[in-house]
Amino acid sequence: MSERLQAPRGTFDVLPEQSALRAQVEEVARRVLESAGYRRIETPAFEDTDVFRRAVGASTDIVQKEMYTFEDAGGRSLTLRPEVTAPIVRAYLEHGMHKLAQPVKLWYLSSCFRYERAQAGRYRQFWQIGAEALGSDDAAVDAESILLLHTILAELGVAGMRLRIASLGTPASRAHYRELLQDHLRRHEDELAAEVRERIDLNPLRAFDSDHPGTRTVMAKAPVLMDHLDDADRDHFASVLGMLEAAHIPYEVDGTLVRGLDYYTRTVFEFTSDALGAQSGVGGGGRYDGLAEQLGGSPVCGMGWAAGVERMLLAAEHLPVPEPICDLYVAMAQGTPAERVQAFALAAEARSAGVPTQLELAGRSLKGQFKQADRCGAAYVAILGPEGIELKDMQTGAQESLDTSAAVVAHVLRGRHADA
Ligand code: HAM
Repeated sequence: MSERLQAPRGTFDVLPEQSALRAQVEEVARRVLESAGYRRIETPAFEDTDVFRRAVGASTDIVQKEMYTFEDAGGRSLTLRPEVTAPIVRAYLEHGMHKLAQPVKLWYLSSCFRYERAQAGRYRQFWQIGAEALGSDDAAVDAESILLLHTILAELGVAGMRLRIASLGTPASRAHYRELLQDHLRRHEDELAAEVRERIDLNPLRAFDSDHPGTRTVMAKAPVLMDHLDDADRDHFASVLGMLEAAHIPYEVDGTLVRGLDYYTRTVFEFTSDALGAQSGVGGGGRYDGLAEQLGGSPVCGMGWAAGVERMLLAAEHLPVPEPICDLYVAMAQGTPAERVQAFALAAEARSAGVPTQLELAGRSLKGQFKQADRCGAAYVAILGPEGIELKDMQTGAQESLDTSAAVVAHVLRGRHADA
């Protein structure tokens, strides 16, 4: 016998019960985002590798270690998307969305792929819900974007939610700070993790993200970018915070907040939840005013976030599992060929009238069929027999003989309206 195959490591099957929960997350996100004028977008599951290499940054873990990159039969280098912001900016440029009223507000629910060490809340294929607003650098865009994620997480009942926020300034204001930080790191080179030492030139800021004890001690005394912002960046950040306060959203300013992607400018933020273990980040994002140019376009400001669907589900405390609906179960007294055809026709008629209907499909005894109708939560069972059709109300136990399938459908529809 050949070996039984399994889903690849770090991936999972979404089974029906989980699918119903995920649909609720989608529903909440859709309602909150579309009410604020965001419209859904879908981009391909893979892109030219350069989209991510240029946008996410050559020195990031994502680009260095985590991308699923392959060459197709035509010799092009393609990559399964590890995130969706870069593809959306690529699509904005490709479709000339600068001609639309700005900002263009887009949301998505997309699968992402990262070759990460698999554990609870960290997978190799996962789903992100995200929102991106392109074409305005107004601080209100930042505050509104953060407010929308806060609303979604609150509606889902995410436990122990915390918002950390910082400003990274612009590349210009960052250049001077980078030098200060690099000097500090070089002065303490012996105490740093090898990985951090290697990134002093390319990406010194990532040192704040290290778990290495020596590096952490060095970073505790490092200069903080927030103390070196220019006036325009400081004003922008203050406006964002003022609006969050006006919306009663608690936050903690954290100058050591580091995001794993290089495209950020000015505002960056992250929501965490106590309900999650090591992978406490539920969702995060920030502003990326230079990303369009990195992708070869004209300058376009952008601000957005993404939140992992699996992490939101892990952190959401009391999300009820919705029951599947079955208003009518079509059963057969004897299961003769004629009854089977009649049952099939009745189920088809009921469905085209909009009645959620299930049909006996496994040749059960009449008793077995009632058990199955119960499992489905059926409101009514129609039993087709030699004498005609009996319709049983499963709630009251009342039974009635009806002559035609049309009468059955009309009765069930009346019962449904009475219940509603
Ligand atoms: P990110 O922080 O890399 O940001 O990912 C956003 C969210 O995706 C995380 O907070 C987490 O919930 C989820 N996530 C990330 N990796 C995994 C994984 N391996 N398994 C399960 N969930 C995961 C971005 O991707 C940016 N594109 C966000 C953004 C949008 N910034 C601006 N606009």
